[in-house]
Amino acid sequence: MKFPIIAYGDPVLRRKAPSIEPDEYPHIKALIDNMFETMYGAHGVGLAAPQVGLSMRLFVIDASVFSDDDASLKDFKRVFINACILDESGEEWPFNEGCLSIPEIREDVYRKQNVKLSYYDENWKHHEETFSGMAARVVQHEYDHIEGKLFTDKLSPLRKRLIEKRLNDISKGMVDVDYKMKFPAVKKGR
Ligand code: NI
Repeated sequence: MKFPIIAYGDPVLRRKAPSIEPDEYPHIKALIDNMFETMYGAHGVGLAAPQVGLSMRLFVIDASVFSDDDASLKDFKRVFINACILDESGEEWPFNEGCLSIPEIREDVYRKQNVKLSYYDENWKHHEETFSGMAARVVQHEYDHIEGKLFTDKLSPLRKRLIEKRLNDISKGMVDVDYKMKFPAVKKGR
């Protein structure tokens, strides 16, 4: 089952998501499957629970599409539950990012080269792992979602001002996407 993706402007995207316990979500695997289905349906490489309206520390990633540029990403399909950044290191580098909640906008975003994370996988197995380069980039972008942050927050004041109207338009549903979305400033569903 595909979820509608929550568009820019919805408060759920701004909430710091709480951790979850295994007992609270006995059907988490079905939820994870639906999140992957939603992500693939929208041609995304990552999707965080707040983007489908669920404020919880869960995100999924499949960055294998980048494996032409980085062979280490060939099997980079992961589930991150209760992720917590332990350390970020290395030089900041720019990459032209987009986000399924902010369609049609892409901007250069600077992020650090490496990120060390504590997280649980879909079997509630604990991991402590360091990601680098593009893997780190995707993890950092999705991690921001569970912290209530968006890539547009990281832009210069000038860039922010230049895209302000387009962001407002997205909230109102004035955007052409080929996947189902839920727009905060549209009262009736569309
Ligand atoms: Ni995103």
